[in-house]
Amino acid sequence: MGVRAFVIGGYVRDCFLGRAGNDIDIVVEGSGMELALAVGRKVHAKVSLFKNFGTAMLHFQGDEVEFVGARKESYRRESRKPIVEDGTLEEDQLRRDFTINAMAFSLQQENFGELVDPFGGIRDLADGIIRTPLDPDQTYSDDPLRMLRAIRFATKLSTPEIRFRIVPESLDSMRRMRGRLSILSKERIVDELDKMLLTDRPSLAFELMDRTGLLEEILPQLCALKGVETIEGKGHKENFSHTLAVLDNVCTFEREAGAEPNLWLRWAALLHDIGKPASKHFSPGTGWTFHGHEVIGAKMVPPLFKGLMMPLNEKMKYVQKLVRLHLRPIALVDEGVTDSAVRRLLFDAGDDIDDLMLLCKADITSKNPAKVQRIRANFDLVREKLVEVEAKDAIRNFKNPITGEYVMQVYGIPPCQEIGILKEYVKEAILDGKIGNNFEEADALMRKKAAEMGL
Ligand code: CTP
Repeated sequence: MGVRAFVIGGYVRDCFLGRAGNDIDIVVEGSGMELALAVGRKVHAKVSLFKNFGTAMLHFQGDEVEFVGARKESYRRESRKPIVEDGTLEEDQLRRDFTINAMAFSLQQENFGELVDPFGGIRDLADGIIRTPLDPDQTYSDDPLRMLRAIRFATKLSTPEIRFRIVPESLDSMRRMRGRLSILSKERIVDELDKMLLTDRPSLAFELMDRTGLLEEILPQLCALKGVETIEGKGHKENFSHTLAVLDNVCTFEREAGAEPNLWLRWAALLHDIGKPASKHFSPGTGWTFHGHEVIGAKMVPPLFKGLMMPLNEKMKYVQKLVRLHLRPIALVDEGVTDSAVRRLLFDAGDDIDDLMLLCKADITSKNPAKVQRIRANFDLVREKLVEVEAKDAIRNFKNPITGEYVMQVYGIPPCQEIGILKEYVKEAILDGKIGNNFEEADALMRKKAAEMGL
């Protein structure tokens, strides 16, 4: 068709990182849609056109190939709103987010596969540097989401061998431009947060967001955890760095267990202590306490999710539940691991007990490694007890052996308050271990109690 076309962006970057995926973006000096249709005819693939965006997509041999026309932006004198016009490859590369994302492979016959890298993306990739092709103020004002993308890439691409760094001019620009995040939809922001949380070491991202002031714009509740107050020479734990350590611990434990990353468990780790600032108290003698912070924190979860337009469904309830219960397993270490306490924990956590245990173990942080070892060893005793009690009493998916229908049938009564009282009485007796978790003992107890109630 006489047009030049190039593979560009993430696919090229990931090729050099040895992890090329299945999403291939092709930029065309001309119409992306027309080239896509021609390719589609040739390889007998169905082409989906997205006319509003001027892009087109087809599937080919397991890859998702997207075509877009090269664009440039120009500014009219009377308006700051850019006009997007057709452009050359070079112009298109210039308006991309980072040098490492602006590299292209030629698809021309004469130099097929040749790298086109005008801004030294390949060097930056090797040195672990995130920088924008243009002045960062320009790149970030074109799309403020790129500030979060920079942080996400710095986190995701960092390995124990090479730590990716965002250049200082870019970090300064983010500090200046952070207020511009307000023009973005919450969905796009949360999508980036989710991707950061799903990296191997999300703390890097949250530290960077904190340093650049972006976190204050997005999740001020987390920033409120920062700092240490000292009274009478006594300081408390620095709850922001503690939170990030817990989050990284969760990721490490998941990896060690060979489990898939659980996004919502990571959200729970991030938010587990958000109730601390509101519950902080100093009393002479005792020192600092955060009594009830798990209850306050759990109450903060729904408005926080709502504010970020996150789902208010069972995912939110799961996060809320883990925040509310996060102290319970470790509290058993101090209070004594009785069967009835373990049964109550199993009852309250239900199927989320394993996730709760993982979070709780991750929450054991201290500057003193011997102390961490000691508490974790005690914590393992709680875990053993959980397995033992669950095997014996099967509380995890507790179903009351006494149902409302059964009570109505035995006593010939309509729905009434007494039914609830009887069921609760039986449930409490089972959890306390006064009777076994089976129908015979539950029925006998129900009849005894009902007689006392005059039924
Ligand atoms: N891009 C950009 N600015 C954005 C989003 C994307 O300049 N706000 C450009 C970059 O060149 C990027 C390409 O579009 O490489 C594709 O974007 P996307 O698919 O979102 O990201 P990838 O770089 O492919 O990386 P990933 O799939 O890991 O998010």
